[in-house]
Amino acid sequence: MKVAASILSADFSCLRKEIRSISKSDYIHIDVMDGHFVPNLTLGPVVYKSLKKYTSIPFDVHLMISHPLRFAKAFIDAGADILTFHYETKDDIPELIQTIKSRNVLVGVSIKPDTDVSVLNPYLKDLDLILVMSVEPGFGGQSFLLSALDKIRYLKKIREEQDLHYLIEVDGGINHETAKSVSLAGCDIIVAGTYIFSHCQRNKLIKELKQL
Ligand code: DX5
Ligand code: ZN
Repeated sequence: MKVAASILSADFSCLRKEIRSISKSDYIHIDVMDGHFVPNLTLGPVVYKSLKKYTSIPFDVHLMISHPLRFAKAFIDAGADILTFHYETKDDIPELIQTIKSRNVLVGVSIKPDTDVSVLNPYLKDLDLILVMSVEPGFGGQSFLLSALDKIRYLKKIREEQDLHYLIEVDGGINHETAKSVSLAGCDIIVAGTYIFSHCQRNKLIKELKQL
């Protein structure tokens, strides 16, 4: 399994130093919140563009914003390698997919815990990644919701049956135990914030998670 360290749980006063402490991570997961789609605010593209100069780890950008179409290009310019928006936004999904793909960036769609995974069926063949939320988006440090497991199994089954290529990523409440469960269900990438950043030996922990 691949690991995406969520810097939502990092010390934002020294992000450059914090990303050095997670150098074994496969991706840096960047949570973008607008205080509207979710009741929390984070940073914009200008900060991540600066950070990009100091790492070769790909940026996995998770947009929790009401109007991803308005900001997609700015995050691509800031260095997003994967750009994921939420199915539940009101923006046009085919247009978003097209906008992101035309800039040679991998495109992902995320679904909230209460959203049925089958709503993604019409888009699956065009997607590079599905991000299954295993907590309500907006905050780190919440408990894993078991409903994510069936969604991961479903996505894995459909991918095999239809010979599709998307990656399955899960986000929220990941620790050693829940990582094992999502791995068994068929997850490809785990996002972990609190679990990694509250640990002293972060790279050692990341290596252990990768081996699950
Ligand atoms: C929550 C974010 C997550 C968050 C996960 O809305 O999308 O990426 O950082 O945090 P933990 O690992 O603490 O649940
Ligand atoms: Zn996230």
